[in-house]
Amino acid sequence: MKPKSQIVNLPVYKAGKPIEEVKRELGLEHVIKLASNENPYGSSPAVLEAITRELANVSIYPDGSAAELTAVLAKHLGVERDNLIFGCGSDEIIALITRAFFLPGDETIMADQTFSVYKSNADIEGAVTIEVPLKNGTHDLPAMLAQINDKTKAVWVCNPNNPTGTIISEQELIAFMDRVPSNVMVVLDEAYYEFVTDEAYPQSISLIDRYPNLVVLRTFSKIYGLASLRIGYGIARPEIIDLINRVREPFNTSRLGQVAAMAGLQDQVFVQECSKRNAEDREWLQNEFSRLGLPYFPTQGNFILVDVNMPSTTAFQSLLKQGIIVRSGFHVYPTYIRVSVGTAEQNRAFIAALENTLAENVAARP
Ligand SMILES: Cc1ncc(COP(=O)(O)O)c(C=O)c1O
Repeated sequence: MKPKSQIVNLPVYKAGKPIEEVKRELGLEHVIKLASNENPYGSSPAVLEAITRELANVSIYPDGSAAELTAVLAKHLGVERDNLIFGCGSDEIIALITRAFFLPGDETIMADQTFSVYKSNADIEGAVTIEVPLKNGTHDLPAMLAQINDKTKAVWVCNPNNPTGTIISEQELIAFMDRVPSNVMVVLDEAYYEFVTDEAYPQSISLIDRYPNLVVLRTFSKIYGLASLRIGYGIARPEIIDLINRVREPFNTSRLGQVAAMAGLQDQVFVQECSKRNAEDREWLQNEFSRLGLPYFPTQGNFILVDVNMPSTTAFQSLLKQGIIVRSGFHVYPTYIRVSVGTAEQNRAFIAALENTLAENVAARP
């Protein structure tokens, strides 16, 4: 059996370490996971009620078109139903876009460093990834623009960017979109949209009318707290949505995911409260990093990339032994770890552990 040549050397995606695994391996009772940018407050109580009610129907296939959820979300966003597509997380929408549009040899442009799933899916389709270094942790849109040529199929803009948490402004986005040829798709990944407080952040949905090549991605995994139910969505012109729909599996989102998303949308008080707490707590963490003399990227997401001034895997292991899981191993930032913003209590525990890690590292120096 001969696989597609482009997948032979593909790494398997390494997700944040699961809490259960860390407890088992290290014999720890209390473990705090700040590794996957999940919502530390869980999800709205309305979601739990909706899922419980829907449990009686798990033997019946879901509505593959997610018609009811589509109607609810269209109303919430102020778009038409045919502007929307749902996926098994926004991860799947990324995969569907590459599946529908990328041919071997096509080029696709993204930042270095950004969310790795863009590249892994481009690799699977045999497309060539052009990685453009971030400038001060932020997308360098003029440099990305300069890489566009006849072979370019799509440009990925992660806003806020994972792992740096930085954003590009509406003005920067418009200046970029005005220059991108209309046959090149721009995928704007807004997985952390609801956490952004900076007023310069783009109101991207209103730009879809103006730019037919713009696709916006969002998710219920982050602020809505539905990461395990795997539901995300894309917003674009109907012509693009129609093409992506052609490569979608018939039942790619579940009944539980659909009802949970609908209930989540109806509890905007929960969303606003989580966003407010996140903004306060990320500010607190950033102040703590300043107190400790650790450089970091000012974030608009629910995570912070901070320079711990030692190999990130050393810091990762040290924190792990203290029951805190973070993310390490970002190739552009070998001395940085990415920590998700937790509850105030989790953040305090993380900072206390980090102070131990920093002290251990100083003691270990020759
Ligand atoms: C930037 C970005 N986009 C997309 C995703 C995928 O999220 P999901 O598939 O859970 O919707 C993530 C998850 O971490 C992310 O950080």
